[in-house]
Amino acid sequence: MAQHHSRNGSLDELIEREEAAFVDRMPLSRQRWERAKRVMPGGVASSWAISRPLPVWVSHGLGGHVWDVDGTEYVDMHGGYGVNVVGHANPAVVEAVQARVALGTHFAQPTDDSIVVAEALATRFGLPLWRFTNSGTEATMDAFHLMRAITGRSLVIKIEGTYHGHHDATAVSLYRSTEQLGPVDDPYRVPGPGVPQQMADLLRIVPFNDIDALERVFAAHPGEIAGMILEPMMMNAGIIPPRPGYLEAVREITRRHGALLTFDEVKTGLVVHPGGVTALLGVQPDIVCLAKALGGGVPCGAIGGTAEVMAAITDGVYDQVGTFNGNPLTMAAARAVLTEVLTPDVYARAEDLGRVMLEGSMKALADHGQPSYGAVYGFKGSVVFHDRPATNYREFLAISTAVSHFHFLVQHNGGVFLPPWGKSESWTLSVAHNEADGERYVANVARLATEVEPILDRSSDIFGSGSFN
Ligand SMILES: Cc1ncc(COP(=O)(O)O)c(C=O)c1O
Repeated sequence: MAQHHSRNGSLDELIEREEAAFVDRMPLSRQRWERAKRVMPGGVASSWAISRPLPVWVSHGLGGHVWDVDGTEYVDMHGGYGVNVVGHANPAVVEAVQARVALGTHFAQPTDDSIVVAEALATRFGLPLWRFTNSGTEATMDAFHLMRAITGRSLVIKIEGTYHGHHDATAVSLYRSTEQLGPVDDPYRVPGPGVPQQMADLLRIVPFNDIDALERVFAAHPGEIAGMILEPMMMNAGIIPPRPGYLEAVREITRRHGALLTFDEVKTGLVVHPGGVTALLGVQPDIVCLAKALGGGVPCGAIGGTAEVMAAITDGVYDQVGTFNGNPLTMAAARAVLTEVLTPDVYARAEDLGRVMLEGSMKALADHGQPSYGAVYGFKGSVVFHDRPATNYREFLAISTAVSHFHFLVQHNGGVFLPPWGKSESWTLSVAHNEADGERYVANVARLATEVEPILDRSSDIFGSGSFN
C-alpha cells in the first residue's frame, strides 16, 4: 500500500491514531496479554485470536453483544469467526447444554441427540448419511481421505487462496501475494510452514469461477484426480459468490471424470441458508463438510455424504474416527441449534438487516466520493472498499489491506466487534441482532468515509483503481 499524504496526513497516520485509541481503551486486556505471553506463544490460544494492535480479552457475551474485560460493550459481528449465529448464551442452547452436563458429557458411545442431528442435516443438505468431528479441519481431512480412499487416486483439486483447515493435505497456497502465487495458468503449489512439498504436490490449484482452468487440469491428469474441494461461495476473501452456472459446471466436470466433489460449508453451512449453499443454489456435491455454526458455540464438525461415499465408512474401507466425535455436549447443543434456533424462518430477517447495513454503508461511502460494493447472504455480509467485485483470489488481492484494517479499528473503537482480519472476513449476524446494531455499524462506516475523504487521491488505489492485477 502506497503512502497517501494529504492536508490531514496519510492513511498510515489515521491507522496509527485509531490503534492508539484502541490500546488506550484496554489497559486490562493489555495487562492480561503481558501475563499470557509468558505461558502462551503470542499470548493467545490460537494465532487467529491475535488482532493488531492488541488481542482483546472478552469477559462475556449475551445475545448480539460481547463485553471486554475493561467493561466495554460491543455489538458482536465477529461471531467467533462465524460461529455464533444463535447469539451468545442463547436460552435454548444454554438449557440443552446444562441438561446434558448433569447427565455426563462423554462416553465415546452414541447418544440419542446424534440421531436427531444427523436426521436434520440429511433433510437440510440432501445428503443421507452423516458423521461427526470436532472441528472444520477434521471434517475436511475426512473428506480428503474419503475422496482418495474411494477412488484410489491421489490428486485433489483445490481453489486458489481458499482455506480448508490446518491439516497437511490442504495447507497450501494460502494468503500469498500475487508474485508468490506464480503463473495464473499453472500456479505454484506453496506448502504452509511445516508441510512437506510432497503434500503440496498432490494438489492442483485452480482459480475460483474458472471452468476452463478446471477442464485443463482434468485433461492434463486423466484418471489421476480423486476429487475437488471448494467453498461453493468463497468466504475468506470477503464474500465471492459463484458465477451463475459455475457450480453446475463443476458438478458435471467432476462427475464426467469419475472424481468426487466436496463442498466445504464450514463457514456457509447453516449460515447463508438453512441448508447452506448446497440447498440455496441446488447443486448436490458428493460430500459436505460442516463445523462452526452447527454447535452453537460448542466445538463441532460434521461430514455428510451420498450413500455411495458413506458406504466406504459403513464397509470399513475408511475408518472415520475420533475419541470426541459425536460428543454428547456438542450433540445436545447442535440439536437445539437445528430444531429450536436456526429454523428456516429466521434467515429472512437477518438478510433484511444485512441489506439495510450494506445499503446504508454504500450510501455513506458514495456521499464522500468513495466506491464500494458488498454482498449479503443470510447471516453473512460484507462491505468491500473497492469499486469492482472480485471474482477470485487474485482479484481480491487488489483490495486495500490498509483501508480494511482501518475499518476494523474504526468499527471497534465505535463499539462494533468485527473479525480482526480486515478484508478477508465478513460480518456474522445472529438471531439476536436488531436494527440499532445495524445502525451502529453504518454510523461507523460513515465516520470512516468522512475520515478518509480528505486523503482520497483519485489517481491512487486507496479505494481501488478499477483494475485488478
Ligand atoms: C472454509 C473453512 N473450512 C475449514 C475451516 C477449519 O475449521 P476449524 O477452524 O474449525 O478447524 C475453516 C476455518 O475457518 C474454514 O473457514
